[in-house]
This record gives sequence, structure tokens and C-alpha cells, in this order.
Amino acid sequence: MGNEFVEHPSHSAEYFGDTRDNWWNPDYVALLARRWRLDQVREVLDVGCGVGHWGRVLGGVLPGEARITGVDRDPFWVAKAAERAAARGEAERFRYQVGVAEQLPFERDRFDLVTCQTVLIHAADPGVMLADMIRVVKPGGLVAVAEPNNVADTLLNAAMVHAPVDQVLALVHMQLLCERGKAALGEGHNSIGELLPALFAERGLTDIQVHLNDKASLVLPPYTSAEQRATVEEISDFARREFWIWSRADTLRYFIAGGGEERSFEGAWAAAMAASRRRAEAIAEGTYSSAGGAITYLVSGRKAAASSGGA
Ligand SMILES: C[S@@+](CC[C@H](N)C(=O)[O-])C[C@H]1O[C@@H](n2cnc3c(N)ncnc32)[C@H](O)[C@@H]1O
Repeated sequence: MGNEFVEHPSHSAEYFGDTRDNWWNPDYVALLARRWRLDQVREVLDVGCGVGHWGRVLGGVLPGEARITGVDRDPFWVAKAAERAAARGEAERFRYQVGVAEQLPFERDRFDLVTCQTVLIHAADPGVMLADMIRVVKPGGLVAVAEPNNVADTLLNAAMVHAPVDQVLALVHMQLLCERGKAALGEGHNSIGELLPALFAERGLTDIQVHLNDKASLVLPPYTSAEQRATVEEISDFARREFWIWSRADTLRYFIAGGGEERSFEGAWAAAMAASRRRAEAIAEGTYSSAGGAITYLVSGRKAAASSGGA
């Protein structure tokens, strides 16, 4: 239970806990498979695969003979993803290797589907990353990504509904500054999901479609399901360790880079931590509930089919 990687220095370690297994409704993923015509897919590339969560979700609806290759720049995640696939007896179907998304270690036109989940939000230049994903997909093949608008979560958060308007706006203000600062530092924009359809069009993809993940992370006392326990444990753990969306050090860097003034950081951070503590206390008292909505866009597009070369 929990997160075996918590406080590990690798990228996104704070977000590779049990809650990540609960991001998708299986029946919705089956619907997605029909929309994306995954029955025709045999070779898949999962870019920025981490420990393999997204590839595994898709693996459940891909044809049995489909092979999923995961690539990540961090050798630690690659090793862990391979370990997990082997533990499931799926080492043949799921292969993992080190590589950077901006220069994928594959020849052009290789895969039927090139995909990623919450990776473009970390790209210094998502257009460059997307261009290489398009390079390695076959003509007529699909590029499909799952990327969020994370700032929306703060407004949707149930605890915020009850908070005074000034407090809500202060936290949203802080998050917007940080998201812009993170982007300015070349570490990616956490709400890039909003801009991806236009980027897909700019890069020449056709048949662009956008859907929303229909999964909500319901939290309702007494939090008895394994899924709800994982969610409330993660919220409480973040509060206990004073981890906001990012660590304090990263939040400060992003805040300043986004145009925030150093002298106003302490107050903003204290307010964020107080909000986080109040939520954890309400969980401990069994009074916290949330409909748990979030915005994750599924953006897909096809690479133009090769011309026949005829007249
Ligand atoms: C938020 S995690 C997502 C992991 C996985 N896609 C999932 O949804 O479970 C982001 C992952 O992208 C990887 N990553 C970030 N930038 C990358 C890049 N430029 N090239 C390759 N991997 C990258 C990180 O190492 C990390 O494992």
C-alpha cells in the first residue's frame, strides 16, 4: 500500500503510488479502444513510461498479439517497469528501454500507436516532443496522449468550495504563477492539455479528436474501498510531509520564475500548507468528502497516410 517510491529523487516519484492504478474506468478504456480503433494496433510506443502505468492500462484493451515498448529517460524507472512486467509474467509483451522523448531511439514510421500520459506536461518544448512522436508513428498511425489541465483541480477540490473566496483565489493565483514559472524554466506546463489540439493541428496530424477521462476519484466517509483508502492516505501523507503539488523547494523556484515576489512566498506557502492540513484533519475526523473530478484530456490524431506514389 502507499507509494514505494515516496521521496525517491527520480522524476514524478511522488505520483507513482497506489492512486495511479485508479485513474481510469475499465469500461471507459474499452470505449476508448473502439474510438481509437486499437484492434488494428500491433506495435505501441509508450513515451515517458515511468513504471508502466499507462501502457498497462492500454495493454488491457489492445489485441493479445500487440507489443508495448516503453521508453523513459530515467534508467531507474525503466528497470522498475521491466521488473513489474516480469512479476506479472508479461516480460515478452512489455519491453522497456532508456531514451529521451525528443530523440526517440527508433527509426521513423515504426509504430501503429505512439502514446503518452502526463509527459507533455513536463516537456521543455511539447512541440519538439510531439514532432518526434510523429516521426516514429507509421503513416496512417495514431498519436494519442492523455494530458491534464491541472490548475482546474484546485478549483474543483471540495475543500476549496467551502473556503473563503480570497483563500481560493490566493491558492489558484499561486498555482498559476508556479505553472508559468515551471514552463519558463523549461520544466513543462502542468496545464498543457488545453493547448494540445492546436499543437496536433500545427504538426500536421489529421482526424484530431478530443475526449475527457470520465473517472472521478470519489472520496466519501468512511473511505472503506481500497481505492478511497489509497486516495485519503495520499492526501494525508502529502499534508504530513508538507508536500504541495511540488516540494517546497521546487514550488519556490517556480513561484519566483513565474513572477512571484520572494517576500510573498512564505505567506502563500503557509496558506497552501494550512489548506492541506485542514483537509487531512477532516479526513482523520471522517468529515471530508469529494466528488473528485479532474480534467484529463485525451487528444488523438493520425499521421497522414503515405501517398501511393502513383500518377
Ligand atoms: C508523470 S510521469 C508519467 C509516467 C507514465 N507515463 C504514467 O502515466 O504512469 C513522467 C515520466 O516522463 C519521464 N520523462 C520526462 N521527460 C522526459 C523526456 N524528455 N524523455 C523521456 N522521458 C521523460 C519521467 O522520467 C517520468 O517517468
